[in-house]
Amino acid sequence: MGNSNILTFYGHSAFQITTKKGLNIWIDPWLDNPEAPQGAKDDVKADLILITHGHGDHLGNCMDMATSSATEIVAIHEIQQYLLAKGFPNVTGMNIGGAYATKGVTVTMVHAIHSSSIQEGQDIFYGGEAAGFVVGLEDGTKIYHAGDTALFGDMAIIGNLYHPRVALVPIGDHYVMGPKEAAYACKLIDPKIIVPMHYGTFPVLTGTVGEFERQLKAHHIDAELVVLSPGTSLELN
Ligand code: NI
Ligand code: MN
Repeated sequence: MGNSNILTFYGHSAFQITTKKGLNIWIDPWLDNPEAPQGAKDDVKADLILITHGHGDHLGNCMDMATSSATEIVAIHEIQQYLLAKGFPNVTGMNIGGAYATKGVTVTMVHAIHSSSIQEGQDIFYGGEAAGFVVGLEDGTKIYHAGDTALFGDMAIIGNLYHPRVALVPIGDHYVMGPKEAAYACKLIDPKIIVPMHYGTFPVLTGTVGEFERQLKAHHIDAELVVLSPGTSLELN
């Protein structure tokens, strides 16, 4: 139990939210990413794991973390079916546009423009659509994890409808938005706090925080830019 909700970055698109009530939520927990802090996988406690899409850098270590029924995975229907077939005991499927209340929090699955599949050796399984999540914590704080996505106009609806306090936005370019698109996205979402993600993990993800900051200024966005290095946290009171 704490006085703050704590958002911890684990590199790439991997975040942990520890709520005031002590719930441990993970989003896209790829803890083997090259930027992950040492010991990231030690003593991981997960009550809830949210998966935005099936790509390996997002499904990540989910399957190591969810062997007990105490850990609930939430993902789009097709990924749920894949994980149930693998024998995971507690997997909830949902789809874009809907909300699901569990363990005192609300998970709304929102649109993302990206692809999705699950690769297993040479085989590729259909992963449904890629998605993002708006997570509503017990105290009403909302955090939007955009997943992997292009810029899209309906981010304005996500902003208007859910008013996320924090937006976690990909800026790495090539597979996702670059800094220019991500800054425009923030204009549409209009959060109070912006946390960049999905950059610098590989050389191909060329978008930088410096350029993102310039683009935010160019768009007169005065939300607070919080750059979390892997292993560091943001306290949300
Ligand atoms: Ni992806
Ligand atoms: Mn990705």
